[in-house]
Amino acid sequence: MDNQIPREEGLDHSIALLKEGYNFILNRSQSMQSDIFETRILGKKAICMIGEEAAALFYDENKFQRNGAAPNRVVQTLFGKNSVQTLDGEEHRHRKEMLMSMMNPEEIEKLVEIVKMEWEHSIDQWAQMEQIVLYEEMKKLLCKAAFKWVGYPLHEDDVKVITKGIAAMFETPAVLGPTHWIGRSARNQIEKKIEGLIQEARNKQIMFSENTVLHKFAFYKDSNGNLMDGETVAVEVLNMLRPIVAIAIYMNFTVLALHNFPHEKEKLRNYSDYSQLFVQEVRRYYPFFPFVAAKVKTNFTWNGYKFEKGTLTLLDLYGTNHDPNIWGQPNEFKPERFARWKGSPFSFIPQGGGDYNNGHRCAGEWITIEVMKGSLDYLVKRLEYEIPEQDLSFNMDDIPSIPQSKIILKNVRRSLESLH
Ligand code: HEM
Repeated sequence: MDNQIPREEGLDHSIALLKEGYNFILNRSQSMQSDIFETRILGKKAICMIGEEAAALFYDENKFQRNGAAPNRVVQTLFGKNSVQTLDGEEHRHRKEMLMSMMNPEEIEKLVEIVKMEWEHSIDQWAQMEQIVLYEEMKKLLCKAAFKWVGYPLHEDDVKVITKGIAAMFETPAVLGPTHWIGRSARNQIEKKIEGLIQEARNKQIMFSENTVLHKFAFYKDSNGNLMDGETVAVEVLNMLRPIVAIAIYMNFTVLALHNFPHEKEKLRNYSDYSQLFVQEVRRYYPFFPFVAAKVKTNFTWNGYKFEKGTLTLLDLYGTNHDPNIWGQPNEFKPERFARWKGSPFSFIPQGGGDYNNGHRCAGEWITIEVMKGSLDYLVKRLEYEIPEQDLSFNMDDIPSIPQSKIILKNVRRSLESLH
């Protein structure tokens, strides 16, 4: 039997989407009491979905495609032209294989060790300063680490400018007006720089260390057996660099969680396995990516609802991570829930759902977790700091959302414990 997808009245709801941000789909799904509804965004019909069952449907690549789904402004800043995010089928699988080839335990461990080294350097600098803005410092720390890991360590003089450029790519996609162009022009400049390096490596003018991202990607053959064009290689190198810097956002929320739930610190100090649970709960509880977008690939019917080819479809990531059908007391911060968590790949989806190799799930999810755990260890065991009076609130209509003050820390110093 055919069912009518509940429909939101009105000509267009793009403004509401900007206003309600992370809560746009959740709010409507609750008021319509449905995990699926139809609305209009940017003048077009769009289906919005939330929850585990919806996620399993969304990640069925026979039913949905990514090509043509993301708005141009997102491709121009966040993703890059012809990036893995915009590919489907065999072309996607082949490109993803290249990215996933860097996601083995040795490479992840290498990155975590580099990140720890950067923490060591940074603490010495911060100890000389009265206060730091953690978000700004974490972006620089992670940017240095990311460039080292991909095989092109940055010169100290370039760190500030490059960090600013990379951050603009994830800070500006959802911003209207001139700020968006900052992200776009930063992407163009940094892509050109990387493209130049790739060309030099191919001409044997420079050499990248083996097993690094730059070396692997520069000489990776596409599904037709040809080297990829330089621009595409640069886009995929940035697909590694940019999100590593973006982990700074999760680190801000990590410090916020330690501040707002101070009893957690004891558990983190006493039980070594607890950091995994804590990091998972930070990724579930706080907002980061609001939703992912795809287009209906072919007409089909699901639960009696008709999906028409070409319809824009949004899957709510934030909302699914707060879905009361999956999570008991979803609005409480409870890392322990992950001790007994036996979810499916479609229920806990801060970085997308489904499969890594055969789907679009975030290539860097394991990296994110390990870098967060390594950094959390510093925050809890090796560092002392004070959090002065400041505005720690964060808005659900800013995408990405970051605490207002970007978290100011005072009197940062090594903890006495870590000196023994
Ligand atoms: C900072 C925290 C991160 C968050 C919140 C995040 C979130 C996401 C999300 C929501 C997606 C889209 C999933 C989909 O389209 O279904 C994604 C895709 C992706 N992420 Fe991440 N990510 C993060 C970190 C990373 C890291 C550290 C890397 C690499 C080092 C990375 C590389 C990628 C790539 C390459 C894709 C595209 C995968 C594909 O289309 O097949 N991400 N990420």
